[in-house]
Amino acid sequence: MEDLSLHILDIVENSIGAGASRIEIRINEDLKKDILSVEIKDNGRGIDAETLKKVADPFYTTRTTRKVGLGLSLLSQSAKEAGGDFTITSGKGIGTIVHAYFKHSHIDRKPLGNIADTLIVLIAGNPDIDFVYEHKKDDKVYSIDTKEIRAELEGVPLNSPEVIKVLREDIRMGIKGLNPS
Ligand SMILES: Nc1ncnc2c1ncn2[C@@H]1O[C@H](COP(=O)(O)OP(=O)(O)OP(=O)(O)O)[C@@H](O)[C@H]1O
Ligand SMILES: [Mg+2]
Repeated sequence: MEDLSLHILDIVENSIGAGASRIEIRINEDLKKDILSVEIKDNGRGIDAETLKKVADPFYTTRTTRKVGLGLSLLSQSAKEAGGDFTITSGKGIGTIVHAYFKHSHIDRKPLGNIADTLIVLIAGNPDIDFVYEHKKDDKVYSIDTKEIRAELEGVPLNSPEVIKVLREDIRMGIKGLNPS
């Protein structure tokens, strides 16, 4: 996977597949500590303890059954390649938290990629799921919560073309605004 936005898409697809109605994506870029962290939290069906052991182990997932896929172990691998690490915490019937961090300046740290477009794909394709996106970069923060936006829209679907257009622009500008001008 070339960039982190594709990893995020993949992890969020797991959450959607697990029936989550609320998915939180948090990115924190702490340049002083030289850390980039990504957390994806959902309220889906969760993973039982036995499966969790397998998905958390990249060696297991890369060489075995079709039942256990590659998404989580690829993210784990990307984090470890870039001086970071990966954890997954899950409770059956409660939800799942996937956390990966990277050394921000590491030569093998994948770029974030096009997060705005990734979010738009997710929101447009799943207008009834509440998505929270929070992106911190040092002392700046951009956040969006589709539940709040949906409430303001008073019945206009979140995935109507006009709304998507405005959302895309807002997310693009919001993320752009995190960088020093
Ligand atoms: N957020 C989640 N909630 C519930 N179960 C999950 C979640 N994320 C992963 N899982 C479980 O862990 C398994 C492994 O996930 P992983 O993303 O590594 O592979 P996959 O989704 O099966 O296949 P791939 O991502 O390669 O298409 C999933 O099949 C699913 O059973
Ligand atoms: Mg997957």
